Amino acid sequence: MPAIVLVGAQWGDEGKGKATDLLGSRVDAVVKFNGGNNAGHTIVIEGEKYALHLLPSGILTPGCMPVIGNGVVVDLGVLFEEIDALEARGVDTSKLRVSNSAHVITPYNRTLDKVTERFLGNAKIGTTGRGIGPTYADKMARIGIRIQDLFDDEVLRGKVTGALSLKNQTLVKIYNRKGFDPDAVVDELRGYRERLGPMVTDTGLLLDGMLRDGKTVVLEAGQATLLDVDHGTYPFVTSSNATAGGACTGSGIPPTRIDRVIAVVKAYTTRVGEGPFPTELLDAKGEILRNNGAEFGTTTGRPRRCGWFDAPIARYAERINGVTDFVLTKLDVLTGLDEVPVCVAYDVDGVRHDEVPTDQAQFARAVPIYETFPGWTEDISRARTLDELPRNARDYVAALEQMINAPISVIGVGPGRDETVVVRDLLG
Ligand code: GDP
Ligand code: IMO
Ligand code: MG
Repeated sequence: MPAIVLVGAQWGDEGKGKATDLLGSRVDAVVKFNGGNNAGHTIVIEGEKYALHLLPSGILTPGCMPVIGNGVVVDLGVLFEEIDALEARGVDTSKLRVSNSAHVITPYNRTLDKVTERFLGNAKIGTTGRGIGPTYADKMARIGIRIQDLFDDEVLRGKVTGALSLKNQTLVKIYNRKGFDPDAVVDELRGYRERLGPMVTDTGLLLDGMLRDGKTVVLEAGQATLLDVDHGTYPFVTSSNATAGGACTGSGIPPTRIDRVIAVVKAYTTRVGEGPFPTELLDAKGEILRNNGAEFGTTTGRPRRCGWFDAPIARYAERINGVTDFVLTKLDVLTGLDEVPVCVAYDVDGVRHDEVPTDQAQFARAVPIYETFPGWTEDISRARTLDELPRNARDYVAALEQMINAPISVIGVGPGRDETVVVRDLLG
């Protein structure tokens, strides 16, 4: 089995971390290919809870090599904090490898993220404030600092000084903030050099070698399809490609090597931050989903906006990513509802749309057209096969599968590693 891509189908927090963890010891490497510490993946193993932000989920699987790919933006302070916290809990992080071409989130990029959001006022994106957008903007503007730059004093000083000659003007003259001293920034970044050195490599070459040796590599997305900078609900998106195409550019693994694309989709929908969300529930039903699903951000602690399952969105994710398997998560959260509505299409200005309108003005006005399914009251957290699910839960899953154009191979019935119904082996 060559390379497998794993992406989020909605607006993030679908349970990608748990899904990657489930693939377990049969995986030789897990590569994070986009985003940075804006991600938050909670994984529960034998009652122990781990919250990962920058590190790939494979870090929790002994023997698996976690890789931070070239498409990631790396906050080095966060990287070492996360490593130290895991080591303190007995997790071996020594196999971690970091691409020498990944970009570094600098202190001025963190500041610019926060001041820009404040400046935007009501038009803000609701970012995680981790410096993600400004760091990707620098990458595209070709003034970014890369991991490899840390190991050459002259290059590092030149790049930081060059970038700050622009950034300080913006910070001081537009935002009325203090500028950054280039020497202090260089010293801070150089301070990570010694510890970082042994982890840094050409990860594209490393992964190519693994694939040639018949090893299994999982490319794990942060964020999700509708947060993708090209295919998401722009401008209310993150600044990277979180879809399957981004797995190639963000890792150096070519499309011809990828033979499976797994999309993780929640049995309902959530979103953190601003932007359109047609099935959002602003009433008591939304509160029920938030409380039953513990829908509070892993990264910022913000309450997640909650709503019903949106089939056109999952179908859109199937199309954009070329999904071969869906992992449907958090089915257990719907237990106890009398009925479960599913958005099957939208009404935009009196016209029915079966597919997601990519015109954002239209999408913002989209009103869901619902089909309603009967609920179930039985506890499903101990179900391990489809037969062990109550009839109405099974019918709900079967109806979703019909609407989303790809098989549902795994169903989550609780946060724990074992709280899963496996319909089809994802690695088989
Ligand atoms: P990610 O960012 O896609 O990795 O997802 P998060 O970790 O941010 O959010 C998913 C949350 O749901 C985590 O707290 C998981 O422990 C939890 N979770 C994952 N799958 C299930 C499931 O099937 N049922 C329940 N109840 N919780 C789940
Ligand atoms: P995981 O990997 C949910 C959202 C932010 C904001 C927008 C832009 O856990 O699914 P950014 O800081 O990236 O510039 O913020 O994207 N966002 C996420 N929402 N899950 C995530 O990651 C997210 N990462 C970013 O809330 O709306
Ligand atoms: Mg998350």
